[in-house]
Amino acid sequence: MVQQWRRRGHRVALVPTMGGLHDGHLSLVRLAKLQASRVVVSVFVNPTQFAPHEDYDHYPRNEERDWHKLLAAQADAMYAPDVHDIYPHDFATRVEVAGVAQTLEGISRPHFFSGVTTVVAKLFLQCLPDIAIFGEKDYQQLLVIKRLVQDLDFPITIVPAPIMREADGLAMSSRNVYLDADERAIAPQLHAVLSDMAADLASGRAIDETIRQGWARLEKASFRIDYLEVRDSETLMPVEGSVQTPARLLAAVFLGRVRLIDNVAVVPAAES
Ligand code: PAJ
Repeated sequence: MVQQWRRRGHRVALVPTMGGLHDGHLSLVRLAKLQASRVVVSVFVNPTQFAPHEDYDHYPRNEERDWHKLLAAQADAMYAPDVHDIYPHDFATRVEVAGVAQTLEGISRPHFFSGVTTVVAKLFLQCLPDIAIFGEKDYQQLLVIKRLVQDLDFPITIVPAPIMREADGLAMSSRNVYLDADERAIAPQLHAVLSDMAADLASGRAIDETIRQGWARLEKASFRIDYLEVRDSETLMPVEGSVQTPARLLAAVFLGRVRLIDNVAVVPAAES
């Protein structure tokens, strides 16, 4: 189907997802529609990016609901392969990115990125889109995919999409349904603290001191912190002292048993 579209001169966008679609995903579809004349959304809960103790079995799945949302968003096709279509019993290949994939999420979830890059490489080759949209919500994933595409010469342009948030600032996520009422009330403080920190960092405040204060505020709000770091916005290399060039403040925290990730841009005052 995609090949036919391309032969007829259409520019095709792919939006890879794991379903459980929310307005964050749909914003990617909207962006895709602005940049392409045909939009394919893949829905596949990818087992290889979950560790055995993670939520693969419980991950929110509802293909029919997803399909109705995609119809309303005017996507042209949903591709929802079966696990055996993607991973036949004799499947034996892993696609692995080093460098940018080996820090932050790559440390906390060691199999995660190779699962992501393996399935995304496969989805790219199956769909052969001209462009693919990835959200900044998973900022490190976006950089890992850019690296993959550059290193393996995929003829696909990666388009980043901004983070969609609830009115109270919480980044939309399929996993937000796991939060109980008390946790849901606390959760927006993650973004509130990150935003304050980003403003301080942008005005030249020392990174160490800003992290110490942000860390204490998050713990007081009852988050357990996995990481809270300022990194270069392109390479994710650590930044020392104060922020002089575009950086990203990235966090992963637990609220009860739910793991939340979020990030904000830090644009030094001299650059904005
Ligand atoms: P999933 O978590 O379903 O996310 C699919 C895409 O939606 C990703 O590019 C993600 O960054 C984006 N997204 C999620 N929440 C968002 C929000 N609040 N605002 C903007 N974009 C948002 O990421 C994955 O699936 C998987 O790892 C995948 C790439 C599909 C590979 O299996």
